[in-house]
Amino acid sequence: MTMDRYVITGKQALSGAIRVSGAKNASLPLLTATLLAEGTSVLFDVPQLADVTHMIEVLEHLGCQARNQNEAVLIDAGSLREWVVDEELMRRMRASNLILGPILARHRRVKIAMPGGCAIGSRPMDQHLKGLKDLGVQVKEKHGYIEAWTDGLQGADIYLDVPSVGATENIMMAAVLAKGTTLVHNAAREPEIVDLQNFLNKMGAKVRGAGMDVLRIDGVESLHPAEHTVIPDRIEAGTHMIAGVMTQGDVLVENVIPEHLEPVIAKLRQAGANIEVYDDSIRVRQRGKIKGVDIKTLPYPGFPTDMQPQFMAMLAIAEGTSVITETIFENRFQHVDELRRLGAQIRVDGRTAVIRGVETLEGAFVEATDLRAGAALFLAALAAEEATVLEKVAHIDRGYENLEEKYRRLGARLRRVVPNNKEA
Ligand code: UD1
Repeated sequence: MTMDRYVITGKQALSGAIRVSGAKNASLPLLTATLLAEGTSVLFDVPQLADVTHMIEVLEHLGCQARNQNEAVLIDAGSLREWVVDEELMRRMRASNLILGPILARHRRVKIAMPGGCAIGSRPMDQHLKGLKDLGVQVKEKHGYIEAWTDGLQGADIYLDVPSVGATENIMMAAVLAKGTTLVHNAAREPEIVDLQNFLNKMGAKVRGAGMDVLRIDGVESLHPAEHTVIPDRIEAGTHMIAGVMTQGDVLVENVIPEHLEPVIAKLRQAGANIEVYDDSIRVRQRGKIKGVDIKTLPYPGFPTDMQPQFMAMLAIAEGTSVITETIFENRFQHVDELRRLGAQIRVDGRTAVIRGVETLEGAFVEATDLRAGAALFLAALAAEEATVLEKVAHIDRGYENLEEKYRRLGARLRRVVPNNKEA
């Protein structure tokens, strides 16, 4: 991990346009879905992020060939020569587990090191494995590895205990090549699931219902490669919208699907932001005090957990008291201590954080502990008096492309510094 840091001088009202990149969380399953067909699939608007590079390394390890060409990523999944993914590759990114479904469908056998926990919670895989077992997969968990194999996938009725995004994606990618029909009840409804359905159907699959809580997948004999453009990143877009609000700015966020941002738009309006929604862009303006609001994270279309830390940064300077309840991940308040260093007044009790808005935040030394915690601190620094040094920006690099350049264009005062004090 690089040890780069940002030095940010806050209190600059941001203004101008900022373009959102393709969605990280859509790109990762789309990349693994290319494993389902022999030949070369083409994905447009895949963001250049550490997580994406990592997923491509996993695919290459399995025998795929990947290359970039004119802003597209081409994955040739013609020959798969490997079905074991060891600790070193698995541990770096949890989403590596999204190869399970496609490899089983294509190769009938897979062995991966257990992805392990992460900074925001324990993140079990029981729903992934339960769904795969229902499709006729045998699973053995031993010595830190998950080994799974099947004599042939068979469509099934699957009930998820929780609408897990990753489990829904893995099950979908296995079921497309199963014999017969699969129904997934209590499926995740996130836009990234819809994007995956669209790509799979372009490959010749028969998937319906994405975006609703029951998916129907009619298995087909084989799939063919396809071309697809990744949806814009709704979490990146939401982060920029908050930047506009927190800096009393006027920001046009471009390349968005406004519908995907409805829960975020609703809360920002409640907080007093002026938001104009166009076909594929959103203008955010803020004049005067931000109002405190209460938030509860929920599966889509509820308020996204991936926006919770950024909202907390905003509520830290809002009028009155706000309450945030985190229902998705049990340990997702790591940004609280760091926000306090900047002067925020936040009290945490279990899954609830109570935020008493302060007049202003003040620059300090802070550290990103995970991706969205890092984004929250980045936003807080933009709104704080004087300079903030934000350490461990590698966490932020996992989810935000060209952040520095994009924000400089909006008028932010920031620079990236590499450890030996040279500027990047
Ligand atoms: C995805 C997103 C992540 C986001 C999360 C929730 C990707 C690559 N990552 O993660 O950014 O924060 O959705 O919107 O798309 N659970 C179980 N058993 C399982 C699987 C999950 O109990 O087998 C629980 C988790 O502990 C968590 C909840 O379900 O409480 C949601 O997790 P899940 O939707 O699976 O998140 P990911 O797909 O890992």
